Amino acid sequence: MHEATLRDRVAELLAPSERSNVPPFMVMDVMSAAERIEAAGGHVIHMEVGQPAAPAPRAAIAAARAALDFGRIDYTSALGIPSLRERIARHYLDTYGCAVDPGRIVVTTGSSGGFILAFLAMFEPGDRVAVTVPGYPPYRHILTALGCEPVLIETSGETRHALTGDTLLAVHRKSPLKGVLVGSPANPTGTMMSREALTHLMEAAQSAGIRFISDEIYHGLDYAFPAVTAVELSQHALAINSFSKYFCMTGWRIGWMVVPEPLVRPIERLQQNLAISVPTLSQIAAEAAFDGREEMEAIKRGYVENRRILIEGLPKAGLTRFLPADGAFYLYADVSHFTADSFEFAKRMLEQAHVAATPGVDFDPVHGRNFIRFSYARSADDMREAVARIARWLG
Ligand SMILES: Cc1ncc(COP(=O)(O)O)c(C=O)c1O
Repeated sequence: MHEATLRDRVAELLAPSERSNVPPFMVMDVMSAAERIEAAGGHVIHMEVGQPAAPAPRAAIAAARAALDFGRIDYTSALGIPSLRERIARHYLDTYGCAVDPGRIVVTTGSSGGFILAFLAMFEPGDRVAVTVPGYPPYRHILTALGCEPVLIETSGETRHALTGDTLLAVHRKSPLKGVLVGSPANPTGTMMSREALTHLMEAAQSAGIRFISDEIYHGLDYAFPAVTAVELSQHALAINSFSKYFCMTGWRIGWMVVPEPLVRPIERLQQNLAISVPTLSQIAAEAAFDGREEMEAIKRGYVENRRILIEGLPKAGLTRFLPADGAFYLYADVSHFTADSFEFAKRMLEQAHVAATPGVDFDPVHGRNFIRFSYARSADDMREAVARIARWLG
């Protein structure tokens, strides 16, 4: 065979699918650049990554150790270890005063694993699913990879970046939506939806037959007012949560969903086929994590202090415009009075001030070039040092 033809054939054979062509996560590029500075002896304050600096609760680690000593780590049932599902159900009663049937709890491989199961169970290829921008990029990238169409709806500071029912219905009237996904507290804005805002949005979605998904991964990290779970407001909504943030268990890859009853069996079948079950050691640790609440509340008090340092310090340093930091551990700052390219701004801030933050373009392809996201999940000393460095750099 002609060499060029053979090359073409091989290229065709190995060509990745169109749906796998999802954009990378830019925060990873910032992390790599920070690592290069550190390898050369620099000291970087890390505010780019959305993960707690603290380890998992001591009780979780002890339970995992004991399980390893005990011996076998077997598969579990696809929906999760029954005692963990019961413990999660109890968490809804303790935290929100809301009774949930443990039969509706599905344990997942992080909330990331939950998105895949939820989207597969709720949507067909081609379905239009609304997500807000600025927003967590994998929402739209996972939908795309599964053949659905993410419909980006812009939110603004006027509604605390909450999607309103009116806006949702206006988009739906133009071209029907099958679903909508919102998160509160939100990444990257750190803003939260009030009970009233969430209720109105869910009622609007239900009235139009739009399926509702609530990303509740930052629940527990609410400062402005208590976060409201969609589980309490409707039996038809699907709520996704995780042990990654409040419980500081990012690398354990463990989360859960509360799913409408008719979706339990389809999701069970999907999980059986896609993953068999969620890592057993992480499930055992997660169940014990609920005994570590005191420890986690102390960590939360640290975030409250970090938030105060930034809210008071950043304006003095020159960053005067940011959204209300209601929850999670993010502060989304408008830097448009310094630059029209926040990627370049973040790069210079990293290189010259050794403070790493994430450019907004990751979260918002349209207006993200005006914003950067600071994560305040590390120590108070780091926050004070970051403010001082930014003040010197901008000053
Ligand atoms: C809003 C939001 N949802 C979901 C996730 C995924 O987290 P995990 O898969 O660790 O539960 C993240 C991670 O940063 C996030 O910010």
